[in-house]
Amino acid sequence: MNYILAIESSCDDTSAAIISNGEVLSNKVATQEVHQNYGGVVPELASREHIQKIIPVVSAALKEAKIKTADLDAIAVTKGPGLLGSLIVGVTFAKSLAQSLNIPIIEVQHMQAHVMANFAGESKPEFPFICLTVSGGHTQLVLVKDYLNMTILGQSIDDAAGEAFDKTGKMLGLKYPSGPIIDRLAQQGQSVYEFPKSKVGKHEFSFSGFKTAVMYFLRRETDKNPKFIEQNLNNICASIQNSICETLIEKLSIAAEEYGVNTLAMAGGVSANSELRKRFNELCSANNYKAFVPPISLCTDNAGMIGMVGWYKYLDKNFSDLSIAPAPRMQF
Ligand code: KG4
Ligand code: ZN
Repeated sequence: MNYILAIESSCDDTSAAIISNGEVLSNKVATQEVHQNYGGVVPELASREHIQKIIPVVSAALKEAKIKTADLDAIAVTKGPGLLGSLIVGVTFAKSLAQSLNIPIIEVQHMQAHVMANFAGESKPEFPFICLTVSGGHTQLVLVKDYLNMTILGQSIDDAAGEAFDKTGKMLGLKYPSGPIIDRLAQQGQSVYEFPKSKVGKHEFSFSGFKTAVMYFLRRETDKNPKFIEQNLNNICASIQNSICETLIEKLSIAAEEYGVNTLAMAGGVSANSELRKRFNELCSANNYKAFVPPISLCTDNAGMIGMVGWYKYLDKNFSDLSIAPAPRMQF
């Protein structure tokens, strides 16, 4: 039996998980509520919260998996990309514990981990497949050729899909992160407003023009009727969600056809979105693609997915040494 402790602290979630033979035994996430009233993550506050939460979260993950630190065989940790101060907490904690237990440390690229969350279930995607990774900081179309062999086909040239949800939600007066709130409100509304689509390369995304269009639309309508947002909130949310999801699925569909894959996957916080999941499943069933989306607990930031990369690197004995340092702009 082998046990890997995985640690994730790249943004505003402090998370620890225990993975054994590729199976996630426990996956604890402490979400930082302190950012809600600021409309986005405040880096300094995030670092301080990670420091307070990391030990209780690791203890809870060990307890749920019914093991002790002495049982651990390796520690996997997010090296990047992410906020420098946040990453420092996870990496420093992981290095210290690995050194004290004299066990190897495994560095993990966070975006690769989002994709690898698709391997946590019983049934696993076959290679090659294309994954649409949609999070708060990234929007990527990834061609996955093997466990840790992935190429980015295209990504957002400006805002990520999650940012498009969060920033338009902020314009509506919703709390951060607004993605899940828009998802909930949209279920009671209709997509009746149209926003222009960006014109970028076929595998690229751009959401900054969309964001500006929503801003001007809201300004125009509230000039006419100051209660416009309040009176039409559900429909505005449904229209924003519809517009973002349409772009994402359209691009995924083009890439799937071009690369001739028969399996598609999604990953990242935005893949928790109910409309996006619905459209993804429709795309897959219409084209006979096999569809993979992790459970919601493995879509939003969590250490379970970090442990999945950790597990495959552990099998390859792909270890790092204690000189590793956080890499806020780490690529794969
Ligand atoms: O992957 P993630 O947890 O963190 C990053 O690595 O960024 O993604 C967070 C993003 C946020 O922008 C949040 O608003 C969005 O995922 N999100 C959603 C939903 N749940 C989380 N967006 C739309 N609908 C949801 N249900
Ligand atoms: Zn993430």
